[in-house]
Amino acid sequence: MKLILIGFMGSGKTTIGNILSKKLNMDIVDMDLEIEKKLNISINDIFNLYGEKYFRNKEVELLEKLLKKDNIIISTGGGIIETKEVINMLKEEKLVIWLNADIKTTVNRLKSELDNRPKLKYEKNLENTIKNLINNRYYKYKKASNIIIDVNNKNIDEVVSEILVYIDKNMLL
Ligand code: S3P
Repeated sequence: MKLILIGFMGSGKTTIGNILSKKLNMDIVDMDLEIEKKLNISINDIFNLYGEKYFRNKEVELLEKLLKKDNIIISTGGGIIETKEVINMLKEEKLVIWLNADIKTTVNRLKSELDNRPKLKYEKNLENTIKNLINNRYYKYKKASNIIIDVNNKNIDEVVSEILVYIDKNMLL
């Protein structure tokens, strides 16, 4: 089984992915970390030195490789769905989970976590930037995913158990 987590920055992909990896005894790859490791440079520096397009190409390349594996959880970067090719790739998968956080939840969570987030770090009006990005990406996440989990007003354990129930019910393990 492959389980792919998508969703906006701050939606909990990494934390939830790590917990699921232990509970389900599956490998996990955090795509941002993997790209940083491979290029030996931070996400911030990748954006600053080479630009977003370069980063998106690296994401596509890595995702293509990861989708060939099995028994893996893939925690994607929030902008993975910005590439059309990726949406088409994800549409072929059985378990693409969109952790859907609204603007308010996202702003609250991200306020203090902007350091390695070049899409937000340099913006003066954080709320507006987040709002525009979420609105722009909403249908892309929707298109790419087959399960939507509303993560607003829920703690990590609640989200994890919702995912586990879904997997169990649909006999995906
Ligand atoms: C991005 C999200 C980040 C990272 C990069 C771009 C985005 O990942 O890939 O900063 O465009 O939303 P997280 O969602 O893990 O923060």
